[in-house]
Amino acid sequence: MPYAVSLLLVVLLLQCTAAQASQQPPLVSRITKDATSSLYTISIKDDAPLLVDLAGPLVWSTCPSPHATVPCQFDTCRAANQQRPRRCRYVDAGAFWAGREPPAWGCACAAHPFNPVTGECSTGDLTSFAMSANTTNGTDLLYPEAFAAVGGCAPGRLLASLPAAATGVAGFSRDPLSLRSQLAAQRGFGGRFALCLPAFAAFGGTPVYLGTESRGLVEYTGSIPYAPLLANPRNPSGYYIPVKGISMSWHGVDVAASLPNGALDLDGRTGRGGVVLSTVTPYTIMRPEVRRGNNKRVPAVKPFQLCYNGAFPLLKRPVSYDVDGAMCVGILEMEPGAMPVDGEPAAVIGGKTIENNLLVFDLEKGVLGFSLLDFQSTSCYSSNLSRL
Ligand SMILES: *[C@@H]1O[C@H](CO)[C@@H](O)[C@H](O)[C@H]1NC(C)=O
Ligand SMILES: *[C@@H]1O[C@H](CO)[C@@H](O)[C@H](O)[C@H]1NC(C)=O
Ligand SMILES: *[C@@H]1O[C@H](CO)[C@@H](O)[C@H](O)[C@H]1NC(C)=O
Repeated sequence: MPYAVSLLLVVLLLQCTAAQASQQPPLVSRITKDATSSLYTISIKDDAPLLVDLAGPLVWSTCPSPHATVPCQFDTCRAANQQRPRRCRYVDAGAFWAGREPPAWGCACAAHPFNPVTGECSTGDLTSFAMSANTTNGTDLLYPEAFAAVGGCAPGRLLASLPAAATGVAGFSRDPLSLRSQLAAQRGFGGRFALCLPAFAAFGGTPVYLGTESRGLVEYTGSIPYAPLLANPRNPSGYYIPVKGISMSWHGVDVAASLPNGALDLDGRTGRGGVVLSTVTPYTIMRPEVRRGNNKRVPAVKPFQLCYNGAFPLLKRPVSYDVDGAMCVGILEMEPGAMPVDGEPAAVIGGKTIENNLLVFDLEKGVLGFSLLDFQSTSCYSSNLSRL
């Protein structure tokens, strides 16, 4: 039986109220966790799921041939061209782009799809993908709607290391061509979206009702704590949060991890450091120098490197890894090579830590609401929004 100790992220809290009404009903899509890769896909593109990349700037997929293209002089194309990933290895040495069908006329826009798991990229036509999702009022799914989103075409080789069913990636960043930005622009959503991994994503300012054991049906988005979202000028795609410390919650009292002073701070000038959220790393990862310092360590079992001895009678959260009575913290050391996000963060909060949290992003107010549902006898699956 796998075991893991949860982390409580101790952040600067601030209360925040009331959702803004959106012009069209919010949309909700199913999220699925892939057992092999522990990564998440979203079912929104009509023919196949896409990997959820919270810090991703683009939508991309393998494409049928022929497919629609976007003229180079369109604004959409300008936005696409500003998004060339800074560091990547081309999977095909440019052959995919060179071998494509020439446009019937003029200049066809190129996009730069990036695989955040392998760090590989490609160049392909910017095209349009057919999508659909159910509208919601927070308690119920209402009716399905069809729409389209622009995205890049990629060769099949760019799909390496993605969940087997996925044909591409759906980015959720602030950038103008991410899936969430396109839906916000098309439907007047503003900057609101919610993630409840591994069950659903909601676009727009929807309330989210969850069934609880003790209190019945509860609306969460209006009552959970909100923390500021930090912007990193050097990595505008990333969602950074002001984490002050990390504590492990296994007995009645939370245990703070001993970290060097300021270890998690974001340096706004150089863009280094800070704590960023990512859905494309299954576990939380930290720079080795940040993770230094702890007591009662015991030899670790792969993939974990930080294990503690002792009895854990009152775990607040179902644990997920067991080494002969010791617990391994779900934090791995950052390795050189492929980084799940741009830049040089001190820590990347990964899927396991984000799961079964209701995360409510409000990019206009610059805040992130979050609520660890394990402590409240409810879950992402206690919502009708997960019944897709
Ligand atoms: C809408 O929800 C129903 C079930 O409630 C589901 O069968 C259907 O696939 C959903 N449609 C879309 C486009 O997600
Ligand atoms: C959502 O719509 C359903 C079906 O129309 C309705 O029964 C329910 O009360 C609505 N929920 C809210 C919060 O308005
Ligand atoms: C799910 O929808 C049903 C039917 O509208 C409603 O009675 C129920 O309270 C909803 N449950 C949740 C958890 O939203």
